[in-house]
Amino acid sequence: MENKGYGAHVLALPYPSQGHINPMLHFSKRLAAKGLRATFVTTHFIYKTFQPEPSDSVQFDTISDGCDEGGFYQSESIHDYLTRFEDNGSKTLANLIMKYKELGHPIDCLVYDAFLPWALDVAKQFGLVAVAFFTQACAVNFIYYYTHHGLLKLPVSSTPVSIPGMPLLELQDMPSFIYDNGSYPAYFEMVLKQFSNTDKADWIVVNTFYKLEAEVVDAMSKICPLLTIGPTVPSKYLDNRVKNDNRYGLNLFTLESSINIINWLDTKPAGSVVFVSFGSMANLSNKQMEELALGFKGSNYYFLWVVRASEEAKLPKTFVEDIGEKGMVVNWCPQMEVLSHKAIGCFFTHCGWNSTVEALSLGMPMVGMPQWTDQTTDAKFVQDVWKVGIRVKVDENGIVGREEIEFCIREVMEGERGKEMKENAIKWKGLALEAISEGGTSDKNIDEIVSKLIH
Ligand code: UDX
Repeated sequence: MENKGYGAHVLALPYPSQGHINPMLHFSKRLAAKGLRATFVTTHFIYKTFQPEPSDSVQFDTISDGCDEGGFYQSESIHDYLTRFEDNGSKTLANLIMKYKELGHPIDCLVYDAFLPWALDVAKQFGLVAVAFFTQACAVNFIYYYTHHGLLKLPVSSTPVSIPGMPLLELQDMPSFIYDNGSYPAYFEMVLKQFSNTDKADWIVVNTFYKLEAEVVDAMSKICPLLTIGPTVPSKYLDNRVKNDNRYGLNLFTLESSINIINWLDTKPAGSVVFVSFGSMANLSNKQMEELALGFKGSNYYFLWVVRASEEAKLPKTFVEDIGEKGMVVNWCPQMEVLSHKAIGCFFTHCGWNSTVEALSLGMPMVGMPQWTDQTTDAKFVQDVWKVGIRVKVDENGIVGREEIEFCIREVMEGERGKEMKENAIKWKGLALEAISEGGTSDKNIDEIVSKLIH
């Protein structure tokens, strides 16, 4: 065989949102660390607008989602965006594959986000190995699998719902597209279509680790073979075996200087700060933002709150000035760096899957306030399966009130229950490290893919 200097060339294609880019980018770096050449593909718009940090292991390239000037916000609707992406993405992905062939670095394998099943068809057109990458929890994937195959009929007619490998699920524990039947039809169709052609994929990889979801993984594997490959968090925070992998490296939001944030945290006692973030997509109502603001203030703990620029106007007037030393509000921060700071005692989170896995990997207990999509199911597992947190109660108007917010923060930050959650979180941190370290379940699964690609 010709010596190319690398084992095989992998093209990695995430769905172009922050919560999908981060795990796929880390996974690409891990594949590169195991001797593969990894090219990470994003959209023209994202590449030119947000410029990924140069990486010594992963190179970047682009395709078109049909919205080259404005990305998602250039489209008329979710359905319009997904249609444009499929039409333009299929063609430009094919062009990219041909380009690398002409350049003498042909693509051997496409790792594609399962949200984009058309990418698998393109890969197979060129005879490539195809890996379907499932970004979300195995439990969530299995619920969608069940629904896609008609094993779970909608609307759900009786609760609790029983799905193998999972605790009994009440309606509010199901992904939002199911409990709020009919909401976001285009996204719902997309998450179900993940399974439309996976029988043609060479591997299905899931962004979780075996012991975290052992029962679900075992149950799902019986009917849909899969490999667990997570946690996909920067290696510095777990096994530290991937060189220079200390952050994800592609922010779709303007990152505030970590110096100010870390300096502020440095002045606070260990475990005294509540870190609050609702991820990259959630939009809260003005009333909810007010209750959160008053709840954090009322809890009397220090807090560091990520409020994206688009959400800032919803904060109560003069809130930022009034809180003084008690709190800090930032638009976007290096979340892993913050979560791993010794001053942080609890993560008040929307339970996005990446945030959940990051917290578990760092041994951080949580208050879960899920908003939509998979977050409700993640929150169920955080509270009742992994026992590393508590889920807020929503009132009859759909609001989480300030007293409830204060109560949940105290539950996690203080007392016996809080201590147990912390101990459990530390246990999961150890198991996350074990999975991704040499010889761990995820490490072995990644090796299986790499070795088959190389030989
Ligand atoms: C969405 C869904 O909510 C999530 O469940 C799904 O699996 C992916 O798409 P998002 O809402 O953005 O993602 O949440 P999350 O999955 O937690 O991802 C957010 C990412 O942004 C995390 O990796 C987090 O570390 C990062 N982040 C967040 C920052 O780097 N800085 C911040 O200030 C906030």
